[in-house]
Parts: sequence; C-alpha cells; structure tokens
Amino acid sequence: MEYIWRNHHVLILVTLITIISACQQGKSQSRNPSTTSSRELDSLLQDYAYRAFNHPHTGTIYDANVPSNLTGIKLAVIRLRSGSLRTRGVASYKEFQMPMGVIVQPYVTRLAFVYQNLGNWSSFYYPLPGFTYLTPVIGLLAYKASDLTATNLDELDVVASESPITVKFTDVRPVPSGLTAQCVWFDLDGLPEFRDLVSSDICSTYRQGHFSIVVNVTGLAPPPSPGPVPTPSGKKTHKSRVWKIVVSAVGGFIGLVLLGLLLVWIRRYTMNTKVTEMERRAEVGESLQMARVGASQAPVAAGTRTQPVLENEYVA
Ligand SMILES: *[C@@H]1O[C@H](CO)[C@@H](O)[C@H](O)[C@H]1NC(C)=O
Ligand SMILES: *[C@@H]1O[C@H](CO)[C@@H](O)[C@H](O)[C@H]1NC(C)=O
Ligand SMILES: *[C@@H]1O[C@H](CO)[C@@H](O)[C@H](O)[C@H]1NC(C)=O
Repeated sequence: MEYIWRNHHVLILVTLITIISACQQGKSQSRNPSTTSSRELDSLLQDYAYRAFNHPHTGTIYDANVPSNLTGIKLAVIRLRSGSLRTRGVASYKEFQMPMGVIVQPYVTRLAFVYQNLGNWSSFYYPLPGFTYLTPVIGLLAYKASDLTATNLDELDVVASESPITVKFTDVRPVPSGLTAQCVWFDLDGLPEFRDLVSSDICSTYRQGHFSIVVNVTGLAPPPSPGPVPTPSGKKTHKSRVWKIVVSAVGGFIGLVLLGLLLVWIRRYTMNTKVTEMERRAEVGESLQMARVGASQAPVAAGTRTQPVLENEYVA
C-alpha cells in the first residue's frame, strides 16, 4: 500500500519535471539565431560608448568612437538620472525625443542611453528580406550607469508610460511610387514589428530597440517568380515563434490537466483501498487503533470498531 503511494510520488515528480523542461525548451528555442550577431554588436557598442565617458556631465551627449572594423557606424551616449528622465524627459537626443513619463526598470539612480546609427551596416545586422530601408537602422538602448567601466551589461527595461518616444529621421530616401512606407521596430530579440508612420519622417515607440523606415517590396521582386511569393523571413520567424509558444502553452496546459486527473485518480484509488481495507478489518473484528495515512500515523475508524463488540453482546 505505502509502496504504491511512494511509487506514485516518483511518477508525479517525473511528470512534473518533464512538463517543466518541455516548457523551458520551447522558450529557449524561440530565439531567432540570426539575432546573435546583433546582440554581440549591442554589447560591443555599449563597451565603446562607455569609453567616451570621461568625467561625464549628466545630460550631456558624448559621441563615441567605434572599432575600425565597424567604420560607418555612429555611436553616442548620454548619462541621466532616472528621476529627471521620468519627470522631465529628454528634449532632443539625436533622432529621439523622450517625453516625461519614461520609466526604467529595475530602478537605478543613474542610467545611460546608448545611441547607435548602423549606417551602411543596417541590413548586415538587421536583414529584412522583401523590404528596402529608406533610412539607416538606429538604436536606443538603456543601461545602468553606476559603473562606467562595466561591460556585458544587460539592458534595462524601458517603458514610455505617458506618451510615446518620438523618432524623427533625417535624410529619409524618397518613397518609391506606388509603395507605402512603414516604421519598423526591432525588439531586443531582433523581431521586427511594423507600424504606420506618424508623418513622412516620424515614427513613435513606447519601447527601446532599433528603428527604421522601410517599404515592402515583396510583390515587386523582378522577374516575377511563377511560384508562390515567398513571405519575408522576419514575418515567418515571427509566425513560427508564435506557433512554438502556442504549442508549448497548449502542451503545458494539457500536461497540467492530465496531472490533475492523475492526482484525483490516485486520491480516489488510495481512499478506496483504504476504505475497503477498513471494512474488511472491521468485518473480521480486527483491532484498528492506528492506520497509516500517507506517511504519517493517525488514529482512524474508532466508530466502526465498536460495532462488532455490540453484535457479540446480542449474540451472547
Ligand atoms: C571588431 O573589433 C573588435 C575589437 O577590435 C572585436 O571585439 C570585434 O569582435 C570585431 N567585430 C567584428 C564584427 O569583426
Ligand atoms: C561601410 O562603409 C565603410 C567605409 O565607409 C566600409 O569600411 C565598410 O566595410 C562598409 N560596411 C559594409 C557592411 O559594407
Ligand atoms: C508585404 O507584402 C506582401 C505582398 O504584398 C504581403 O504578403 C506581406 O504581408 C507584406 N508584409 C507586411 C509586413 O506588410
């Protein structure tokens, strides 16, 4: 009896571990492999941007140098107090205009915004098949700025809680006739999201990341291929990612339901066997002072024990 119960414990544990690890796997696999190089670039540029801090004044924009193998990328950095960012914003930081209400998490006293303009490296680090960039990709990323020699920093979370951050691009290439320009925003995982322009050269965002203006040239690929038009890979990876998340979520849910059913069944099964056992012992007239309930001892069935005694009296 106890042996069976213990065995079920092991079974439940194994099931639980399997479900959890399946969910974890779904999570980690959903990362787009082509983003690795852009994440490495973010990390390298954070290091080079912080080198421009030399007794920095809060709120002053510093242009930074990039390594010679990345010529063509422009880099800048600004250090701010999170309190003044939230209450006052930043009127003008390169293409960005931050209104009040921009919050960073977790809380830090001082933070730095690294600005990147990827120039002719834009489609190298942010390839977007089926689309043409009308501006370079520019980036805005927030880091903790208490230690200005720190490298490999994680980005802070940035949310514009009141009105959005404005991105006003300079030198937007003319939109090819018949096409509509769109804003594109890449989150930190490199996933593109498309939005309408605010005006011909302005995009808005509530988050940090990388931004540009693009036109969708998917339908224009010359010569027109006879087969089905290939979907832009950005969209495709987004879809497959969504699918993976949906599948692992549904899988996890079904697993939990099954686990629940298993638990209920085990409960019922053990209760039934216990009751049967008690009934059997009561019939036999066996003394039932203590019975094992799970792993702990507890007195049970004090009431049923008296019946056989009464019966015996009547018989006598
Ligand atoms: C460029 O050079 C830096 C240091 O000089 C190095 O860390 C980095 O990996 C190089 N990046 C590329 C893309 O070659
Ligand atoms: C961008 O331009 C610079 C020179 O201005 C060049 O050294 C670099 O290789 C170019 N990058 C790419 C990806 O073509
Ligand atoms: C780009 O255009 C193609 C074909 O016209 C369309 O299927 C696709 O959904 C468009 N992508 C976006 C992000 O609008």
